[in-house]
Amino acid sequence: MPVTVVVGGAFGDEGKGKVTAFLAVRDKPDAAARTGAINAGHTVVYGGRTWKLRVISTAFICRKTQIFVPPGALIKVDLLFKEIDETDTRGRVWVDEKTGIIEDRHVKMERENEYLMKVIGSTGQGVGAAMMERVLRVLKLARDFPELRELLTDTVARLNEVVDRGGLVLVEGTQGTFLSLYHGTYPYVTSRDVTVNGILSEVGIGPRKVTDIVLVFKAYWTRVGAGELPGELPPEEAARRGWIEYGTVTGRPRRVAPFNIEWARRAVMLNTPTQIAITKIDVLFPDARGKKRWEDLPAEARKWIEYLENELRVPITLIGTGEEAEDMVDRRRDVLGPT
Ligand code: IMP
Ligand code: MG
Repeated sequence: MPVTVVVGGAFGDEGKGKVTAFLAVRDKPDAAARTGAINAGHTVVYGGRTWKLRVISTAFICRKTQIFVPPGALIKVDLLFKEIDETDTRGRVWVDEKTGIIEDRHVKMERENEYLMKVIGSTGQGVGAAMMERVLRVLKLARDFPELRELLTDTVARLNEVVDRGGLVLVEGTQGTFLSLYHGTYPYVTSRDVTVNGILSEVGIGPRKVTDIVLVFKAYWTRVGAGELPGELPPEEAARRGWIEYGTVTGRPRRVAPFNIEWARRAVMLNTPTQIAITKIDVLFPDARGKKRWEDLPAEARKWIEYLENELRVPITLIGTGEEAEDMVDRRRDVLGPT
């Protein structure tokens, strides 16, 4: 499976970082690319350590994987270097010459914008402001920053070369389908298309090279910021069920709702997944915690997964059972056959 793309099926925070990290540990990709921008925080817990990443792919935990920041990404220079230090990845992180650079003035512009901050509930990371300048063709790109010179390369050529010689590339998307600028709950959305098509466009890999699309859902749904959340529960009910979470980047409490089959079906339509991952099943079924084999999951958990699989008509191959990257039931061999 040369190119695998990890896509969010809901409102972000589905656990794409964890799923990507798991796939990196298991499949040892030659290269990984994270699209999107620094408004998205991806958490990875591995070997007892926790990283919260906003620039580089959580696939970094596989030491042989070369890490790419593609042209469609928007990053901050200080965050990039901070993450390279924290993940100890100097020498294997590469930035495209055309990657967009967010500067402090973009952050300031957004934070002073009442519509974005109060009505939309933006994360205020300067992403939309930088995107606006990119569309107006005045945004500075990575090639305009001398301090990035040693990291610059043509990431599109390098990633496509890996694919063409039979290597494995893992692509990590950000946010989720219903935060897409085109397909989400506009205007309560982020500043880019975050479905599989947008992800491929940002990274510069053609759709015919993609062999696997992993659509990620969480066992219950959450949303930060404003906009529709189907089936939203009052905060007291969320607390009673143990579904309380806080945003990785902003620390805001997340709004919560039960899993929504209708919306999930639409996410399937938009992203054409070959597989589905469901994270945090241990929150719904505590006896599932830390399990790694399908047979060891509680019967009710297996029944629920089979129900979802029937409704969505896509194999559910990965089931998250805890925070650690390796707390995962991997059914790929059983469900899809040998690869
Ligand atoms: P912005 O893209 O930071 O302007 O935020 C626009 C909307 O998308 C707000 O509702 C944010 O909370 C939401 N959003 C942006 N990035 C993420 C993310 O990574 N996870 C969850 N929500 C996000
Ligand atoms: Mg997040």
